Amino acid sequence: MKPPSKSDAVRIVEVSPRDGLQNIPHKIPTSTKVELISRLSRTGVHSVELTSIVAPRAVPQLADCREVLGSETVRNLQRRGLGDDEVRRGREDEGLLRLPVLVPNVKGLEIALAHGAREVAVFVSATEGFSRANINCSVDEGLERAVEVARIAKENGIAVRGYISSIFTDPITNSPTPFSSVHKCTATLLDAGIYEVSLGDTTGTGTPSLVRSLLTYLTTHEAPVPVSKLAGHFHDSHGRGLKNVWEAYLCGVRVFDSSVAGLGGCPFAPGAKGNVATEEVVGMFEGRGVKTGVDARVLAEVAKWVRGEVLEEGELEVEREKEKEPEDGTSRSGLGHGLANLNTNGPLSRPSRSPVRSRISTNWTACGFVRPVVYD
Ligand code: HMG
Ligand code: MG
Repeated sequence: MKPPSKSDAVRIVEVSPRDGLQNIPHKIPTSTKVELISRLSRTGVHSVELTSIVAPRAVPQLADCREVLGSETVRNLQRRGLGDDEVRRGREDEGLLRLPVLVPNVKGLEIALAHGAREVAVFVSATEGFSRANINCSVDEGLERAVEVARIAKENGIAVRGYISSIFTDPITNSPTPFSSVHKCTATLLDAGIYEVSLGDTTGTGTPSLVRSLLTYLTTHEAPVPVSKLAGHFHDSHGRGLKNVWEAYLCGVRVFDSSVAGLGGCPFAPGAKGNVATEEVVGMFEGRGVKTGVDARVLAEVAKWVRGEVLEEGELEVEREKEKEPEDGTSRSGLGHGLANLNTNGPLSRPSRSPVRSRISTNWTACGFVRPVVYD
């Protein structure tokens, strides 16, 4: 194998304070969220998504976004974080943290600005069903909103990241997503000055071969998307998240979203479970000689701490049992979990049985008409 070079390194976008917590039904105290952000900021990840500013009725867990953003800890981090100014002054390589806040519309952006945000993330769906369920509008209307947010954000010197959900399957209709729709969304967001588009496999239905096909489609299209502008956001509902991350890496993607302890899911996407776990992503890359900049030991401490804070007693019991008896005879703690454990060409593995991912129930009542799609 050739020795790793700087361009082989990956950036980790830690999404647990937003994606990781948004679907947890019991209330997590604001102080725990702030503490999580603070601990994550010391792990060496490149970016920590702080929270979302969305309709509180849609995502009650993150209704305290103003308190999180207004806390002294987060304010201090924001002041030292990476904003558009620092990017312009070429300070991107100084290890400054990016601290995006997820917003669906201009109202969210205005609240983010009033609370010192230096970066926001907008989100659209590549499919109609999920767009309606998640943000109550069509794909085109979602794109218009995102473009408008990006325009105003840029006028205010705020960096903008973008997400496209449902890149492989619509979580509502369970129908496959046309790659052309993912391309259209990606191109529209990049044209609006969004610095990076994260491709969201919302319900983890992707496979390595789908990942390769989509990335090939996007980067060889007649209006090609530069792979350097893409990030991977893989949910691990079926235990293929890590394989999909690795395949995207082989296709040239160098930025990956992940969530410590594999927390995560979307209240509006039946079947959306945890994001791929940061400690597993870091363990896999470092085990293959690919630099992440993350201190795996500090990260492992955060993972242990956050499980104790956000899991309920029954879930913790299962987690402790699992630590004693790894189901495949290997540790999934992240430390030493290398690619040797992955058979990227082999048959698709069974859905992950991690209690963190499978036990966080989806808030179906918030979805109204939406009924669970059973994948497992
Ligand atoms: P709507 O009902 O069509 O909009 O919701 P509205 O303008 O009529 O507003 C309804 C209420 O929300 C009003 O309050 C607004 O003021 C308020 P009321 O008058 O009823 O008291 N409101 C807001 N409040 C706070 N912040 C805001 C905001 N906007 C309106 N920004 C809307 C449309 C988009 C607001 C709603 O559908 C919504 O908030 N959806 C968010 C859903 C969400 O957060 N989903 C999870 C995140 S996305 C995800 O997880 C996927 C991702 O991880 C990638 C992947 O995995 O694929 C990113
Ligand atoms: Mg997500």
